[in-house]
Amino acid sequence: MLPEPLESKIEELLEGRSWTSLAKAYERLSLRYRKGLSTALSEEERIAYVAVRLPATFAAVSYVLEELRRCLPTFVPRSVWDLGCGPGGALFAACASFPSLSHCMATERDPELLSLARSWLPQLGRQLSLYNEDLRKLASLPEAVDLSLFSYSWGEMRDTAMLSAVWQRSQLLLVVEPGTPEGYRRMLEARSHLVQNGAHIIAPCPHNLACPLQKGDWCHFAVRLSRRRYHRFLKGGDMGYEDEKFSYCIAAKQPIPRGESRILAPPRKEKAGLQLKLCTPAHGLQLVRLPRSDPSYSKRLRWGEIVEDSQ
Ligand SMILES: C[S@@+](CC[C@H](N)C(=O)[O-])C[C@H]1O[C@@H](n2cnc3c(N)ncnc32)[C@H](O)[C@@H]1O
Repeated sequence: MLPEPLESKIEELLEGRSWTSLAKAYERLSLRYRKGLSTALSEEERIAYVAVRLPATFAAVSYVLEELRRCLPTFVPRSVWDLGCGPGGALFAACASFPSLSHCMATERDPELLSLARSWLPQLGRQLSLYNEDLRKLASLPEAVDLSLFSYSWGEMRDTAMLSAVWQRSQLLLVVEPGTPEGYRRMLEARSHLVQNGAHIIAPCPHNLACPLQKGDWCHFAVRLSRRRYHRFLKGGDMGYEDEKFSYCIAAKQPIPRGESRILAPPRKEKAGLQLKLCTPAHGLQLVRLPRSDPSYSKRLRWGEIVEDSQ
């Protein structure tokens, strides 16, 4: 669920606007995203983005941050940097997952989106440093930051010199991209650059090796979010929820103990048990059949979770 300040701000932004016209603006915008084009947004496109995409990117980043908490329960970040922050939803997610955060930084090149972020980020009650800049110019870089976030923004930058500079200053860095083959491919570009620069990938991969997936397959996960009335109207469709698909990686300066495998697809129930598609620490991709008699069978294992490696 979106935090209350974001929900009420979205409703405020929609007030007095034609939903039909916003739905058309969203259609234009998503067509451009599908083509991989990143151009300046019109006012209506910006509002449509916030109403339709912010709940989804917020849900995906919250999922990834919770995974980070699970992997590193002792991580107590004080500072966070949201790169290509757009309206700044990832900072709300970060502060909800890590109440220890006292300093939120954000960089965004679109002045209108940043001013939207400026209008609600003070509600976080944290020290704020917001920069209206093109990240590829590497102008305002903090000396050090505990947690850096690229929430659906790395794919629009794909600048490895910038990524190196950010990585150098970060204790942990997180990249979330759309869960499409293209989003996965872009996330992998960042992942391999980070690994070449000494990063330890702590999730979702249980290893630092090259991704073992076959050509045509892509690593992605999903989070379910409920849709408000305006959301259903702008995006079209009657369902009260949607599943946001995303690809991600979390890179850390320090390694964590290995020994877990990641479930890469919804587990398939079969007569003899459960079929799991696993990314394993030492044996790459494996299809494993969990017999009904296995103690883990009853645990309602889910796509995206980890299981103890039995090998
Ligand atoms: C798809 S939006 C994601 C926004 C937000 N992070 C979210 O999760 O909802 C990508 C954002 O990255 C910003 N961006 C792209 N390239 C950038 C650059 N070189 N410097 C700063 N911001 C950039 C865009 O203006 C846009 O707001």
